Amino acid sequence: MQRRNFLKLSGLSAGAVVTGGSLTGFLVSCSGCKKEHHMGLMTEPVMVTEGDFSRLLSFPSQVAANHTLTAQATMANLKGTTIPVLGYQPNSLLGPTFRLNNGNAVNILLQNNLSEHTNIHWHGLKIPALMDGHPDQLANAGGTFRYQFTINQRAGLSWYHPHPHEHTGKQVFQGLAGLFIINDAEEAALNLPSAQYEIPLVIQDKRITNNGITYNPSMEEVMAGYMGESIVVNGVYSPYTEVETRFYRLRILNGSNARVYNLSFSNNADMIVIGNDGGLLKNPVTVKEIMIAPGERLDVLINFSGVTVGTELFLVSKEFAHGGDAQGKQSFRIMKFKVAVAVTDPFAVPANLSAINTIPASSSVKTRAFEISNAMEHHGYSMNDGMQMRHRINGKLFDSNRIDENVAANTNEIWVFDNSKGDEPHPMHLHGVFFQVLDRTGGRGTRIASENGWKDTVLVMPGETVRVLVPFESNTGKFVFHCHNLEHEDDGMMLQYQLS
Ligand code: C2O
Ligand code: CU
Ligand code: CU
Repeated sequence: MQRRNFLKLSGLSAGAVVTGGSLTGFLVSCSGCKKEHHMGLMTEPVMVTEGDFSRLLSFPSQVAANHTLTAQATMANLKGTTIPVLGYQPNSLLGPTFRLNNGNAVNILLQNNLSEHTNIHWHGLKIPALMDGHPDQLANAGGTFRYQFTINQRAGLSWYHPHPHEHTGKQVFQGLAGLFIINDAEEAALNLPSAQYEIPLVIQDKRITNNGITYNPSMEEVMAGYMGESIVVNGVYSPYTEVETRFYRLRILNGSNARVYNLSFSNNADMIVIGNDGGLLKNPVTVKEIMIAPGERLDVLINFSGVTVGTELFLVSKEFAHGGDAQGKQSFRIMKFKVAVAVTDPFAVPANLSAINTIPASSSVKTRAFEISNAMEHHGYSMNDGMQMRHRINGKLFDSNRIDENVAANTNEIWVFDNSKGDEPHPMHLHGVFFQVLDRTGGRGTRIASENGWKDTVLVMPGETVRVLVPFESNTGKFVFHCHNLEHEDDGMMLQYQLS
């Protein structure tokens, strides 16, 4: 414990590299580090190393409502070498993609063949609290957990991943995650590009060695979040896919632990944003670049029809501002699209996508403010009082025995995430609900194109305060809300609300 405190505090020391044996040196250098503002700022970006985009993009197998997911240590081929990973199926980084219709009954058995406890959170599904993958609801090593629920929500791209407190980051980073796609009649009527023209893209960064996907965050890496040098898409390192000269629908998940992407195309193609975490937007919005934080989803139409056959284009992540010290410092390529076949495409982007009612802020019965700047100096702690440098919400660390917010069912509330004094990005995620983003002040100063419609995760950059309108319905129970930087979450940046 004491050593952990020291290691935590080492995050305060500018440039200090703490190894097991060098704590003394650190302590000396630390006595002078009374910087008021930049105590959390010793993090550095993890630079991405691009591959040669020679591996064919593949897709997780698609499954329906009854399925067994076996969490296991397995092997997968990454970068040409077969290495140990975690998976929900043998020989694969990601689990299968569930594709279901609104109204379907789901019956999924988690078989835990890991050597530690795990569980599954269905991120984006509005389901009963006891099915939600709360950190209390675990399958022990060797045990099982049965998830049964009925889908009762509009079409959208959700996902699933482990949620055992303090182990989430490692289990996700080493391979446990999968997609969960819901379809409905409203979406089907739009005749959006489908089948091979609807491409799911799970974007993740990994640290790949011959011994596996390493996960051993230093204190600085807990501060910044754990990032990798290798970008994988659908579990494939540096991939390409061939496309025809027509519209494609890209269903994008940022399944990274901490890395934020600013997506764009190398030919500056229009990206037509049609959906986000909670499904379709009301109307399409055309952008040249769009940010996506861990946990967020994007539904984007891309038109390759003007592009000459033989052209190679890249989905890239561009540099961005306001990301603190560790994010947005590099532009890099994520995957390659080879335009391979000329076709004629009758598809026209619908002007109206979905009926979405904007909920007026005036309907809120209560405003709750959450301080997420979370550097300890903002809570008046000094370096010497033994407090740990930890990620907190309103000064608190996660405690499953404490209800932090009591919320009345069937009421609307405004939740305010205040990172105005912070120096790290925090993608804030609420379980059990979708919300609407009201506004953002400071930092980027505005909502982005994907922040219309319904969200379950919203990125709050350093300097920003974001207000969201949350309609709490009748799905009562105890739910968590947290930062979806998984190192921050595991570090304690997670609280609970009780809906009753
Ligand atoms: Cu995807 Cu509690 O998170
Ligand atoms: Cu921090
Ligand atoms: Cu965070």
